[in-house]
Amino acid sequence: MDRLEITGGERLSGEVRISGAKNSALPILAAALLAEEPVVLENVPHLNDVTTTLNLLRRMGVEIICHDGVRLEIDAVNISDFLAPYELVKTMRASVLVLGPLLSRFGRADVSLPGGCAIGARPINLHVAGLQAMGAEITIDNGFIRARAERLKGAHIVLDTVTVTGTENLMMAAVLARGETVIENAAREPEVVDLANFLQRMGAQIEGPGTDTILIQGVETLHGTSYSVLPDRIESGTYLVAAAITGGRVKIKGTRPDHLEAVLRKLQEAGATVQRGSDWIELDMAGRRPTAVNLHTSPYPGFPTDMQAQFCALNAVAVGTGTIIETIFENRFMHAQELQRLGADLSVEGNTVVIRGVERLAGAPVMATDLRASASLVLAGLAAEGVTIVERIYHIDRGYERLEEKLALLGAEIRRLPG
Ligand code: EPU
Repeated sequence: MDRLEITGGERLSGEVRISGAKNSALPILAAALLAEEPVVLENVPHLNDVTTTLNLLRRMGVEIICHDGVRLEIDAVNISDFLAPYELVKTMRASVLVLGPLLSRFGRADVSLPGGCAIGARPINLHVAGLQAMGAEITIDNGFIRARAERLKGAHIVLDTVTVTGTENLMMAAVLARGETVIENAAREPEVVDLANFLQRMGAQIEGPGTDTILIQGVETLHGTSYSVLPDRIESGTYLVAAAITGGRVKIKGTRPDHLEAVLRKLQEAGATVQRGSDWIELDMAGRRPTAVNLHTSPYPGFPTDMQAQFCALNAVAVGTGTIIETIFENRFMHAQELQRLGADLSVEGNTVVIRGVERLAGAPVMATDLRASASLVLAGLAAEGVTIVERIYHIDRGYERLEEKLALLGAEIRRLPG
């Protein structure tokens, strides 16, 4: 298994280009199943989760052609299989995103139940209940969700909890359903809006994406289109923290500053000078240590849970004490113990971590447990004195495109050790 070796202490500086958003690309690839003609996608990031999704689609009979290494043509005109097997779902929960599209276009889907996960229980009961409200017959046997429907019909769905992939699955199901669907308490994340934009480009009728009420009028068929995936706001935020934690100055390009308001506010509170244009952000820490920040995670436009671990690393080297409260997932502090191995002074109680900043972390071997936890360990390693080895970086490869190359371009001493 590959590892990353980081020699900390370099102040990052320079420019970095942001890739397409993982959490947009995955639902958009699943939504390609809805079209009766090929679709062309651009700005799809090269990530292991994308490869897993492409393998899942290919297994179903979807033809995928990569043009010039940048454009993906996805032809789901003829599908021969309606199954998402355990081997794929267990490596990537987002495989469950094929449930809505398969059911609404083909009337059947067999999707393995995802099971537990490193960051929390993450049930999919709301996806299932929403599809049932739309008339689907769903049974769960042998670890599979077996969903059947003649044709889904529009429904009024009120989600108990804000769920990102739940909203996406139901939106994809509703676009080909008969009549009108209302999704209340819908997720407002930019990735949900990106998916809605893509569906609209294929001919879907959707109102209100980006608000908590989404209205969908079902249509008979969806057609081909071309679409470019949104920039990744979490990748953007991670590079900004990399600059802040090393006292550096970094400009990120090809991003969407308007999707990062909550994160930028906290970085400014930590002492960073932030400038922004329509598609770039420049953060300057001018060699200073960050000031500790308090935050709690919440659904968009609140502070994203996917940036929480990175801010734990920032607080670990900050001046003062910061409290971070995780409200979305029940077990998302796996990075805390690993940060302690680097010398962080923190205590976890329930969904709260209190971090007392120290002047210097010291490099050590640490182990990645999930994608964002891994990112926080890399960030801590950049700020630590000496050598940090981050093991199990397959988690990083799931969601960060060429992380070590991009960090090295900013002056980080980082290399991949093949294992
Ligand atoms: N929930 C339920 N029932 C459901 C669905 C969700 O109780 O049927 C609960 C979850 O257990 C959780 C909360 O609702 O406590 C919110 O979970 P959500 O469904 O929004 O998470 P998700 O859709 O599974 C997506 C991202 C995650 C990101 C979360 C929250 C994708 C592919 N994944 O997950 O991204 O953390 O939204 O913003 O979009 C990551 O990229 O590292 C990542 C984990």
